[in-house]
Amino acid sequence: MMPDANCLQWRLLLPHDLPAMHDLHLLGMAGMAAQAVKPESRDFLLGLLQGRGTVIGAWHEDALVAYGVLQHDLLAEDDPRMLLGLDAAQPVRKLAGATVAPGWRGLGLQRMLIERRLACAPRDAALFATAAPCNPPSWRNLLACGFAVRALVYRYGGHARYLLARVPQEAGAAGAGLELGGNELPRQQALLAQGWRGTAPGAAAGSLRLVPPTGTGGPVGVPAGRAAP
Ligand SMILES: CC(C)(COP(=O)(O)OP(=O)(O)OC[C@H]1O[C@@H](n2cnc3c(N)ncnc32)[C@H](O)[C@@H]1OP(=O)(O)O)[C@@H](O)C(=O)NCCC(=O)NCCS
Repeated sequence: MMPDANCLQWRLLLPHDLPAMHDLHLLGMAGMAAQAVKPESRDFLLGLLQGRGTVIGAWHEDALVAYGVLQHDLLAEDDPRMLLGLDAAQPVRKLAGATVAPGWRGLGLQRMLIERRLACAPRDAALFATAAPCNPPSWRNLLACGFAVRALVYRYGGHARYLLARVPQEAGAAGAGLELGGNELPRQQALLAQGWRGTAPGAAAGSLRLVPPTGTGGPVGVPAGRAAP
């Protein structure tokens, strides 16, 4: 049978859905490199289901085929406000993980989960997520839903993570920029630290298109608008 996203049933997950959520998390991670995705403990998932977050699930008959987490109870180390230049009073919510069962990928389910989580979040909240540069499906879907890469950080034992955010009332960045590959992370990190934003996938596999802050030129030695060699 061909999977059909139109026949899915969506509902918020409850604590009794923990076994289905945990099984899908393990299934989704199977075969993935340690640097691409962080394994979550069963206790962490239970904490989310018990109130640290909102978890949206898509079911096909009695099988959970996709879930996405919107977390409001964040650890201090997760707080992105300083990196994003936001006031300490700014409400924030984290898109803290999503999994689509392998047989249901390629149908846009993560994007649907992102949109549903955006609809659940307070209107004035800044939304953020992290995604490994070596996990393009994860960050491409966030970019497609209006997020921008704002920083490159090293987390979870030294693994590279893009910090992506969607901040209300913030103008989106546009214009000519540079395309940098996943093998150019130090350069990406330096540009992001100068206020550049990753706004779209690049043409080359795994690459990111970055644009400079409004009103500035390109990096020293490269005029804005000229593609990286
Ligand atoms: C990330 C995940 C949820 C995405 O599932 P999905 O919604 O079915 O997404 P898709 O497979 O359709 O991929 C989305 C995008 O990535 C691209 N993509 C898919 N596989 C890719 C690959 N191996 N390399 C590069 N790009 C890829 C698709 O072309 C699509 O991009 P586009 O629409 O901009 O062209 C799913 O891959 C998953 O569950 N992975 C394991 C868990 C995980 O990594 N979660 C995210 C971090 S918590």
